[in-house]
Amino acid sequence: MSEAKRLAAEKAMDYVEDGMLVGVGTGSTVAYFIDALGRDPHRIKGAVSSSEQSTARLKSHGIEVFDLNPAGQLALYVDGADECDPHKRLIKGGGAALTREKIIAEASHKFVCIVDPSKQVDVLGRFPLPVEVIPMARSLVAREIAALTGGQPVFRMDAEERAVITDNGNVILDIHQLSITDPVAMEQAINQIPGVVSVGLFARRAADVVIVGGEPPVVL
Ligand code: A5P
Repeated sequence: MSEAKRLAAEKAMDYVEDGMLVGVGTGSTVAYFIDALGRDPHRIKGAVSSSEQSTARLKSHGIEVFDLNPAGQLALYVDGADECDPHKRLIKGGGAALTREKIIAEASHKFVCIVDPSKQVDVLGRFPLPVEVIPMARSLVAREIAALTGGQPVFRMDAEERAVITDNGNVILDIHQLSITDPVAMEQAINQIPGVVSVGLFARRAADVVIVGGEPPVVL
């Protein structure tokens, strides 16, 4: 699927204009987008980044990284997704960067989502839904989400069985066995639980454009 990811990322360059400040997401698909930006790093003003990982890659190409606060509203945000439904609603956060991704998506006029075909689903929920949680609330949130959704929360660990810690110092619960028939309602309900920082459902603020990588790429 890496060629499909690369093709989607290349197509997203059509949305990049000279002098732009570009919002940049996180993940292996976005890595191709950053590399495409890096072919002519001074064509854009710079980037607002959603993770330390993307910041490092942007800087390695000589692209300046700006804070979101003084930047204000961005014209364009480009990011990947773990799942995408026909209404351009997404599950994101497989790379644990969901909160900053959500903030930048909200602050952007146009959200272009780049995916390979394996990310397309009819109903969201096959990919476990990531939720970023304040560490002391981990068990409370897990119980409440299980009661609310019927899903099975799993505390995300790395390969060495250590808790995955986000760039914001929080932990991740991945909610398994969901079939999300009303993503807007589920996003709203999970957001209400004390201790939840953000949920990786991008339904209220869905993507504006989805590019599915292929020969040729399909723009939805
Ligand atoms: C990062 O937290 C995620 O939201 C990514 O955008 C998502 O996991 C897609 O990643 P890949 O592009 O690596 O598949």
